[in-house]
Amino acid sequence: MKELLDNPVKLIEEIDSFSLNTIAQKIEFQTRYTGKEGIFKKLNEYFRNLPPEEKKNYGLILNKIKVHIENKLASFKIQSANFKREDITRSIETPFLGSTHILNDVAEEVIKIFGRLGFEVEEGPEVETEFYNFTALNFPENHPARDMQDTFFINSEDLDSIYILRTHTSPVQIRKMINGKPPFRFLAPGKVFRCDHDATHSPIFHQIEGLYIDELVSFQDLKETLHFFAEEFFGKDIELRFRPSFFPFTEPSAEMDIQWEFKGNRWLEILGCGMVHPQVLENCNIDSKKWKGFAFGLGVERLAMLKYNISDIRLFYEGDVRFLTPQLNH
Ligand code: DAH
Repeated sequence: MKELLDNPVKLIEEIDSFSLNTIAQKIEFQTRYTGKEGIFKKLNEYFRNLPPEEKKNYGLILNKIKVHIENKLASFKIQSANFKREDITRSIETPFLGSTHILNDVAEEVIKIFGRLGFEVEEGPEVETEFYNFTALNFPENHPARDMQDTFFINSEDLDSIYILRTHTSPVQIRKMINGKPPFRFLAPGKVFRCDHDATHSPIFHQIEGLYIDELVSFQDLKETLHFFAEEFFGKDIELRFRPSFFPFTEPSAEMDIQWEFKGNRWLEILGCGMVHPQVLENCNIDSKKWKGFAFGLGVERLAMLKYNISDIRLFYEGDVRFLTPQLNH
């Protein structure tokens, strides 16, 4: 310490030439000179124990070192003020915010509407067996829907069942009925897969299945429920009609059409439905004399295309931000 005070030039030079441009350098400077273990602290301690006659001379030197340290630190403040001060009044561009996908929004809306009628939400696997996807739903052994052209088969030669990618959400009906006890009232939203691809068909798309089983359920309940849904989803002035149709798992079966002004007052199909076939109930060990019900299945893409007037299904999957931004969605 004594040498330093006797010959402070080197130390002062070192302080003056210390490069002090970043916060890290400032911390390094402080640790070295002014911190608890710093040189200045040590010099101070040494100074305090000196005999009074030496204090005068060394005090001047100590003070000089102190001034250099302070000036150096002050120079950092000035620099950092120049570089770091932000203009807090400047307006900023709104950052791009993510948004929910329109298909999720539509599915959520459907779930909310039926939720008000007491429908819960259930799920089932996307990889299904032929039994749940077709057999238990009363598809005859040679039904064309089982055909290779529509269904993605999974290479399951070594397995005990034939595995496929589910072609519809209806197998969730079977899984819930086999594993539970009536009454049932739920929706089953999810992905389905078919070997088909053009402007209105995608090999992966989304359906929402509905099932309502209870002791006194009539076709009138089915019509009223779906009417309520259509009015809530499309608006009170929506025109709709039920048209006879065929599905192996419902009897009678129908399709519901809505009248669509954008397309020149055409009737457009929006869902399939019907009274659950007694054979389907029996396949799930449910007494079809006691329990009745209805089912329906709707395509989420189809609903979204109609509601938002979208003509190409592929837009949903391309991830184009212009299509996905909230302003365009709503
Ligand atoms: N699963 C049928 C399909 O994908 C849709 C459907 C029609 C489901 C009638 C139903 C129903 O539950 O009752 O084409």
